[in-house]
Amino acid sequence: MSDPCTFVIFGATGNLAQNKLLPALYHLEQAGRLPDGMAVLGVGRRDWDETAWRAQVEADLASRVRGGLDAAVWGRFRERLFFFRGDLGDEAMYPALRQTLDQGPQFPSNIIFYMSISPANFGVVSRQLGVVGLNDERDGWRRVVVEKPFGYDLESAEILNERLHRDWRENQLYRIDHYLGKGTIQNILVFRFANLMLEPLWNRNYIDHVQISHAEARGIEQRASYYDTAGALRDMVQSHLLQMLTLVAMEPPASLDAESLRDEKVKVLRSIRPIPQSAVHAHAFRAQYARGKVQGEKVAGYLEEPGVPAHSTTETYCALKLFIDNWRWRNVPFYLRTGKRMAQDNSMISIRFKHPPQQLFRETPIEQLKPNWILMNIQPNDCLSIELQVKQPGLEMRTQTQRLDAASCGLSQYGIDAYEALLLDVIDGDGSLFLRFDEVNWAWQVVDPILKVWAMERDYIHTYPAGTWGPPETNRLFLRDDQEWRNTLEE
Ligand code: BG6
Repeated sequence: MSDPCTFVIFGATGNLAQNKLLPALYHLEQAGRLPDGMAVLGVGRRDWDETAWRAQVEADLASRVRGGLDAAVWGRFRERLFFFRGDLGDEAMYPALRQTLDQGPQFPSNIIFYMSISPANFGVVSRQLGVVGLNDERDGWRRVVVEKPFGYDLESAEILNERLHRDWRENQLYRIDHYLGKGTIQNILVFRFANLMLEPLWNRNYIDHVQISHAEARGIEQRASYYDTAGALRDMVQSHLLQMLTLVAMEPPASLDAESLRDEKVKVLRSIRPIPQSAVHAHAFRAQYARGKVQGEKVAGYLEEPGVPAHSTTETYCALKLFIDNWRWRNVPFYLRTGKRMAQDNSMISIRFKHPPQQLFRETPIEQLKPNWILMNIQPNDCLSIELQVKQPGLEMRTQTQRLDAASCGLSQYGIDAYEALLLDVIDGDGSLFLRFDEVNWAWQVVDPILKVWAMERDYIHTYPAGTWGPPETNRLFLRDDQEWRNTLEE
């Protein structure tokens, strides 16, 4: 069993805590994985005490936990919940927090500080914790979990990192990318490195190109103030999509320990061919959703969303073409794409193989054989599939595409949310699935030239009707006519 600890949530009444952190902790309670004596201390500005917070959490969890709230589990979980009233901007709050943590027998001395707050406050909070000595590990370990986005661009990420390092050592910092907690993403490693038959094929000799695509039917919801300053490139590509790319492209690590794994991911990011500002248009495409229909329902365009400035050119769709300059991948394009208000939710890694070297079936009605694909659907189906060509039944020599879906397709990860796995790792002190700063830094280096060019070009952006797969102009990124976006497992 892990060490008992106190899990402090800054921003305890915010969306992330409500939708992800508290349900994840509840599910860990249900699975019997929370250490005995562990306490959860919510920090927020509201004038609440334990009783009020517990009542609020109970109401929030009721609609968010699998199978509804279980009285016995909730009974155990609620006893762990405590509330501390405080304002992050008030320096006097931190000595008081320290006193509460030191003096309350209910608070174990190993402490996790979870920054479920606006990124603008990461630096301030971490500094103040240092000022009052809450970073001192003499009587127990201390860990800080930092949510994304880590910085706004390369420069701000470096500044933030320096600020954090004033008070914390690298191994106390857990930079979270929740995609790494998804079972299907972890499965990329197992699929690649536990199956010998794939390795000989997994390179430029056999693979034509790789697509990493994340489409969402939902819009920006109530997040205009954040989203309009971020855009799809920062919000999804710099973090989640580049992380997926590293797992698809990396070399086998020496072991699965945190440093070996992250060393290999960094090697991939460092090998991505830099995009000079003059080539941004050849490698990157952006667009914004206009009004349209998503799954039959009329929805507003991005510029009509509450809180979005009238002339915003922030992208809600973005596509990139990247090359990894190493022996395995040289000249194999990696196409990355993400968009809000697309036709449906679908997150997928699609690996397309080359055509066989000889068209053996030339004399038959078979003209051009379709290529093989390996498809890893992350959402909504959690499904691993391979597409092969087989003979159609009948007298003619005709082929058809046959999709082989893993027997586990659709069983949906047994319903575990990425945050459950990641919070448990923080409690256990396992940093493998968290980002080291050099990963974050190299990821910013990949997107920084694009951000710079787009920041200068503020007078026009392509649009696409909500509910579609994005604008057709995005196809200009493809190297050849026979390459096109693979939207779902079916098409
Ligand atoms: C978040 C982004 O990091 O990831 C959101 O800020 C996005 O804009 C979300 O919707 C997607 O995550 P998931 O787990 O729903 O695929």
